[in-house]
Amino acid sequence: MAFRHKHILGIEQLSKEDIGFILDTADSFKEINTRDIKKVPTLRGKTIINLFFEASTRTRTSFEIAGKRLSADTINITASSSSVVKGETLEDTARNIEAMHPDIIVMRHSASGAPHYLADRLDCSIINAGDGAHEHPTQALLDMLTIRQHKGSLEGLKVAIIGDITHSRVARSDIYGLTRMGAEVRLAGPGTMIPPGIERLGAKVYADMREAIKGADVVMMLRIQLERQGKTLLPTLREYAKFYGLNPRNLTLAAPDALVMHPGPVNRGVELSSYVADGGQSVILDQVENGVAVRMAALYLVLGGEQGDNA
Ligand code: CP
Repeated sequence: MAFRHKHILGIEQLSKEDIGFILDTADSFKEINTRDIKKVPTLRGKTIINLFFEASTRTRTSFEIAGKRLSADTINITASSSSVVKGETLEDTARNIEAMHPDIIVMRHSASGAPHYLADRLDCSIINAGDGAHEHPTQALLDMLTIRQHKGSLEGLKVAIIGDITHSRVARSDIYGLTRMGAEVRLAGPGTMIPPGIERLGAKVYADMREAIKGADVVMMLRIQLERQGKTLLPTLREYAKFYGLNPRNLTLAAPDALVMHPGPVNRGVELSSYVADGGQSVILDQVENGVAVRMAALYLVLGGEQGDNA
């Protein structure tokens, strides 16, 4: 099977087969990351630009590591280090970067649809590294890879996603991906953080977090996206932690072997107690580790790579 997408802009555009193919390809890359010499010539001669207009630790670093492990030339541009601060438009910035003939631009931007805007105007491949509250496709892919690694399959699993669904691009991509792969997705959060009509994506909404996590195989906790909220936070952080925080007591409602996940960064004591974040059911660092393999797969596949030919 060949990957037929030039860009990865969202999970919404990917079929069940596409997602399975990316996860299988990522699995085949995982071994490179634990070798003594962590480099293969697969993308030698290719140029990747990481264009980040918003802060990032995990995504930017793992895309850079992924590109370097595949022997691509990888260049990082942040908003503060670019001529955007002098008033250059996104399109001008992108066209000037493209004049230097990159093969892939990996882009994070606060505006939903910004990577799609570039994909319509540039010739190179675009990978969405998070656009506003819209999608964060490689995060959902690494989440699915982590669940598959621990549970064997995604089919039939009960996955509870708790917190600020409205402003979370991770939640949206995970809902698309998990439902497409046959999981049951349950959502819970304050009324102000559940977008109206989200059930249309195939998820079930619960008013009470305890109902959502009852018997769940996976409990995925989300940070409140304060940077995307207005000035008034409803509920307060204290109320939020009380009703929507995961702690050792309410975690017992989930399946005994339930995985605890979080895309990071974690606000300890708000959505997740430190005891749970660092506990035996937490796979948060597995998510980070799998992020490198997933991003290697994404870079490789948008440039036309085929499975079995990657190392
Ligand atoms: N999960 C995630 O996107 O983390 P960063 O913001 O650190 O990239």
